[in-house]
Amino acid sequence: MDFYDVLKKRRSIRSYKNDPVPEESIQRIAEAVYFAPSACNMKPWKIKLVTDPGLRAQIAANYTQPWLAEAPAIAVIIGNNKQCWQRFEGNPAVDIDVGIAMEHLVLAATAEGLATCWICAYEIKKMNAVLKVKDPWNVLAISPLGYANAAPKDVPHKDINKIFEVI
Ligand SMILES: Cc1cc2nc3c(=O)[nH]c(=O)nc-3n(C[C@H](O)[C@H](O)[C@H](O)COP(=O)(O)O)c2cc1C
Repeated sequence: MDFYDVLKKRRSIRSYKNDPVPEESIQRIAEAVYFAPSACNMKPWKIKLVTDPGLRAQIAANYTQPWLAEAPAIAVIIGNNKQCWQRFEGNPAVDIDVGIAMEHLVLAATAEGLATCWICAYEIKKMNAVLKVKDPWNVLAISPLGYANAAPKDVPHKDINKIFEVI
C-alpha cells in the first residue's frame, strides 16, 4: 500500500473480529517497530503482543470499553523513564520515543489490513500490575490488533492551516 494511503486508511477501530492475526503480519509489524527512531537511539521501550486469552481478559478488565476484549491480540508498549534520554530541562523523553514506536506498529498494522486503536485511558499502576511491569518501566499505551468488524464513523479534523504552517 502506498505510504500516503496507509496514513489515510489508519483509523481508530473499536469493533473486532476474533480471527487471529497472521504470523507473517506479526513479523512485518515487528520489523517496522525495529526501525523506529529514538532519542540517542536508546529505544527505551519494549512491545509485548499479548495473545494469551487469560491475560487479554485481565488487560481488558482494566479498560472501560468492552470492545477491547474482542480483539485476538493486544499490543502493549512499556517505557523506561530512567534509561532514556533526559531533556535539558530534566524531563524524560520516553513518551516521545514510545509514541513513535507505537505509531510505527499502528501504521504497519494498517498496511497489513489490520486494525488498531491507541488506548491510554487506563490506570497505569493497575495495568503495570496485570502485566507484572515494575519501576522504572510503565505500560504507556496499549492497542487491540486484529481485523475490523465495522467501519469507523468519520471524525472531524482541525483545519490544516491551524495545525501546520510554513514560517
Ligand atoms: C495518545 C492517544 C491516546 C488515545 N487513547 C484512547 C483511548 O483510551 N480510547 C479510545 O477509544 N481512543 C483513544 N485514542 C484514539 C483517539 O480518540 C483517535 O485517534 C481520535 O479520535 C481520532 O480518530 P482516528 O484515530 O480514527 O483518526 C487515543 C489516541 C491517542 C493518539
